[in-house]
Amino acid sequence: MTTEPTPNATGLTRRRALCGLVVALAAPAALAACSSGAEAPPAAGGGTTAAPPAGGGIPVAQVPVGGGTVVEGPNGPVVLTQPQAGVIKAFDAACPHQGTPVDAPEGGTITCPNHGSQFDATSGALKKGPAESGLTPVATTVANGQVQFV
Ligand code: FES
Repeated sequence: MTTEPTPNATGLTRRRALCGLVVALAAPAALAACSSGAEAPPAAGGGTTAAPPAGGGIPVAQVPVGGGTVVEGPNGPVVLTQPQAGVIKAFDAACPHQGTPVDAPEGGTITCPNHGSQFDATSGALKKGPAESGLTPVATTVANGQVQFV
């Protein structure tokens, strides 16, 4: 004589209930493992999003013509200069000597406040040590009056 599983009050056998539980627990992990990494934005009215705001960038107007400014870039501080109207240059602000963030340019020269290395504000080239090389260029584009990091 064989015994049939006894359904519970909802009509489920123990085996079916366990199978359903396993599927319910495993499916989200499987789905998460298959995701592309892109996350949907949160519903309106709540949460935060990692996506930059539409049109996010640094307004070209914030970069003085003939001078520049230091802004936060995707990998740390970046010196933006505008040697001529509409010509934007960008350099990693980390001094090649010991990594101290350099200051915004003055008179066409970017100076490191730590030991006084100087760099050309147009090319980033070394003008005076103790640094032994120039500033590292950072790729940018300008669109709709905004400087974007690429
Ligand atoms: S860290 Fe910039 S000159 Fe030394």
